[in-house]
Amino acid sequence: MPPTLSSVRSDFPILARTVHGHPLVYLDNGATTQKPRCVIDAMTDEYLNVNANVHRGVHFLSQQATELHEAARETVRRFIHARSTTEIVFTRGTTESINLVAATFGQAFLHDGDEVILTEMEHHSNIVPWQLLQARAHIYIKVCPITDDGRLDLDALQRLFTPKTRLLSCTAVSNVLGTVNPVQEMVQMAHAHNVPVLIDAAQAAPHQPIDVQALDCDFLAFSGHKVYGPTGIGVLYGKERWLEQLPPYMGGGEMIGKVTFEHTTFNELPYKFEAGTPDYVATTGLARAIDYITAIGWSAIQAHETDLTQYALRRLREIPGMRLFGPADEAVISFLVGDIHHLDLGTLLDQLGIAVRTGHHCAQPLMDRLGIQGTVRASFALYNTREEVDALVAAIDRVRQMF
Ligand code: ALA
Repeated sequence: MPPTLSSVRSDFPILARTVHGHPLVYLDNGATTQKPRCVIDAMTDEYLNVNANVHRGVHFLSQQATELHEAARETVRRFIHARSTTEIVFTRGTTESINLVAATFGQAFLHDGDEVILTEMEHHSNIVPWQLLQARAHIYIKVCPITDDGRLDLDALQRLFTPKTRLLSCTAVSNVLGTVNPVQEMVQMAHAHNVPVLIDAAQAAPHQPIDVQALDCDFLAFSGHKVYGPTGIGVLYGKERWLEQLPPYMGGGEMIGKVTFEHTTFNELPYKFEAGTPDYVATTGLARAIDYITAIGWSAIQAHETDLTQYALRRLREIPGMRLFGPADEAVISFLVGDIHHLDLGTLLDQLGIAVRTGHHCAQPLMDRLGIQGTVRASFALYNTREEVDALVAAIDRVRQMF
């Protein structure tokens, strides 16, 4: 039986605090989620009782730390249903995962005249890494447009593929519009053109189960801190046959086989991509966060978050002057109210204890497409409540009356 909402909330100590004299209403989960006590405890315990560098020691602590670190990799493998732990590369987060693919895939497979397809709703972290490649080779970035209701135009996407297309890199869920993209269909479309696909699952991983084998995607990235885990840890999934063909990303310890001044051979997967001491305490925290999600269960999480999103949409639409952006399929709602500047609205909501994100949400090309500078964004997690939505609506109404 899934736990009650109040018992879930009591797992997150920070939710009990006040901000500016008001109970905290944390609705900035798209930026980062709060951490349950079990994650904090697992990490504290590792620092207090286990800490030692992984893969490097014959001594007891090093072996124990290594076991925890590799058990975390297996937990991640199960979480996204990868075939093997060799396909799970630990990174600092989604941004680093995408940069890793851009740099290494770019080096191995992108030449003058080649094309990469992105979409109009990408986060900067899935735009700029591809632009950085343009300093090396004359590659073209082609962009799948969105429709006026904030969905990808799949007919337009189909037309973007040419014999020069080398990769489709797209988000599974928009961090601004809350659009859930039909990634499975997109992967099939790309594969029909022999084009591999990288999926940015940063906003999907907290809200829906991921099965990389069913999706058949070639690469997939997500961040620990958005799935109730620690900051500074993330995952790159890559099909083994792709990862094997890519050159290393960074050089250093751990990623090598044998080093001489003349020549270096590289370690096997996934270590070829993991130069330097990994954040092995964070991998333990991430594994504990995944265990936490798994114990609650996706069906309970999705039922709750869908109810909350639908309730919030209904309540927000009652506010005069409300402008909603995008379909808000999943836990992310962007809006503006009348002529109130998004920064003013966000700042005044903060004074009432309500944390939302304001601005361009690292998606400036999308803002240009929408013809706006920014939005206010409320994004939900498994611990949010209808009462918090009511508090948001009441606070927006209060601010609205000041203008
Ligand atoms: N990418 C994160 C967000 O959308 C930080 O807020």
